[in-house]
Amino acid sequence: MGARPLLLLLLLHALLFSAPSPAAASPHISAVISQSGLDFAKDLLVPRATETLAQLSVPDIQQSVYIPLIGTVHMVASHIVLQGLAVAGSTVAAGDTGVVVAASFSSVNLTMEWSYSYDSWFVTISDSGNASIQVEGMDVGVSMGMKSENGSLKLFVTECGCYMKDLDITLSGGSSWFYQVFIDGFSNHIRSSVENAITNKITEGASKLDLFLESIPKEIYVDKVGTVNVTFVNDPLFKSSSVQFDIDGLFIPSDKTALSKPMHFGGTKYAQPLGSSSNMLWISLDEEVFNSVSALYFKAGSLQHIVDKVPDQFLLNTASWRFLIPKLYRKYPKEDMLLNISAISPPSVRINVGGVDATVDLDVIVNVLGSGDIVPVACISLLVAVSGGASVSGNNLVGKVELDYFSFDLKWSDIGKLHTSIVQRVMQIVLKKLFVPYVNSYLGQGFPLPIIKGFLIKDAYILISESRIIVSSDVAFVEPMKTFRVKQFVRSLSEGVPVTTM
Ligand SMILES: *[C@@H]1O[C@H](CO)[C@@H](O)[C@H](O)[C@H]1NC(C)=O
Ligand SMILES: *[C@@H]1O[C@H](CO)[C@@H](O)[C@H](O)[C@H]1NC(C)=O
Ligand SMILES: *[C@@H]1O[C@H](CO)[C@@H](O)[C@H](O)[C@H]1NC(C)=O
Ligand SMILES: *[C@@H]1O[C@H](CO)[C@@H](O)[C@H](O)[C@H]1NC(C)=O
Ligand SMILES: *[C@@H]1O[C@H](CO)[C@@H](O)[C@H](O)[C@H]1NC(C)=O
Repeated sequence: MGARPLLLLLLLHALLFSAPSPAAASPHISAVISQSGLDFAKDLLVPRATETLAQLSVPDIQQSVYIPLIGTVHMVASHIVLQGLAVAGSTVAAGDTGVVVAASFSSVNLTMEWSYSYDSWFVTISDSGNASIQVEGMDVGVSMGMKSENGSLKLFVTECGCYMKDLDITLSGGSSWFYQVFIDGFSNHIRSSVENAITNKITEGASKLDLFLESIPKEIYVDKVGTVNVTFVNDPLFKSSSVQFDIDGLFIPSDKTALSKPMHFGGTKYAQPLGSSSNMLWISLDEEVFNSVSALYFKAGSLQHIVDKVPDQFLLNTASWRFLIPKLYRKYPKEDMLLNISAISPPSVRINVGGVDATVDLDVIVNVLGSGDIVPVACISLLVAVSGGASVSGNNLVGKVELDYFSFDLKWSDIGKLHTSIVQRVMQIVLKKLFVPYVNSYLGQGFPLPIIKGFLIKDAYILISESRIIVSSDVAFVEPMKTFRVKQFVRSLSEGVPVTTM
């Protein structure tokens, strides 16, 4: 695409032959940026880098040259300013330890001022004027490595080069003898000064990119209970056409002082490399991410729900049970009732090829609302199994489940034996009409995927494989100021994304 492959190859070469650092920790979320994602990032960066080069000023150059018959002439090239340049093409490639971005430029031109002086017979002769420089072909390449340092990404430039082909200098004014002397004496100096200035500017730009990467938050707040730990756990893994970032990915308490460390499940596993595709981004989340969510919300006491309204409201009054549970009616005639449903252990989530299953042990305490107090009269323990799928809404991973089956037991009762068929019927209603919709209202909000601010997931699809969920998508970049458009965009996305059903 215009950029000289030689420069690219030279820079890529600098990225080879370094020993890959050993995987230090087990990530629970891995994000892979594919070649098309690298191209996307490059297309964002190159125009911005180019903008910073416009109006670049280059240090003055001074030189003294001895010319027969005239003597020593002092020459100065000053106010050298890059006036314009246009990107002709650019490429990005990943090597073993980093990425290389190379761009070729056309219409590169500079302006400058020139002056000279020399002494002749006790008088100083001097002259000055302007000049314009047209550059025929310019290539700029930078190779950058990345590592994780203290959980943040650190970007560093391993090499940066700028190469100009031919300079065409046009002096306005000046005597003709001076013209050739100037071109001979200055051409190479101007070229190397401009090349240096551009290289410095690009390196400076890369350090701004580094500051930006370092400033990426290590946590994404979800709600007052949970926060996702998005600490980078390993150095980025560079492959021939992709870069993989490993992220801790587990949920941690939002208020760390109030709760102890999150539970960890299962042994250490390393994520398998993900397949290549034309999608820009692959995010893989393993089962433990979801189990850390369930452990955290269980610990925080959030997995609890009071039911005082049901579609068949008469069921929540002891009068309805007059004949079926006579003892209840006798003890508490015509009283309203409520159900207190709470998880007694963290729901366990299993991800299998094609589907997500979860089981949860619930206690359903049947309460009677007496005169101002709540009297528990019975407790039914339930084992509930749900299954479902995931989808992406905005930048969130969301889910939807359906009731698979449930089983129950009467744990204790102050109102005598309960008929199995009654309990079954009531629990069926409660689970289908209340519990599952309630769970889905939370899953429908989902939790944020690790996406850098300003980027939006689009055209996502979900793959469910053994013990992990993989989101494959493209991303769009939205300038921070265009928040109104972002909202519109997110709305159009969330309306258009179907829920994957199993
Ligand atoms: C200088 O570069 C700019 C931008 O590439 C271009 O528009 C302009 O025509 C160039 N000027 C000359 C004199 O070539
Ligand atoms: C050189 O350019 C500068 C800035 O454009 C201008 O002020 C000055 O008059 C020019 N000098 C000559 C000799 O053309
Ligand atoms: C990592 O963080 C610790 C504590 O904040 C700091 O002392 C240390 O210098 C950091 N290391 C690097 C390499 O930045
Ligand atoms: C976040 O993850 C990192 C890396 O696994 C870990 O060192 C750190 O302790 C975690 N933070 C919290 C608050 O658990
Ligand atoms: C509901 O049950 C749980 C667990 O037994 C208990 O901690 C909680 O206080 C109960 N809530 C109400 C409103 O009865």
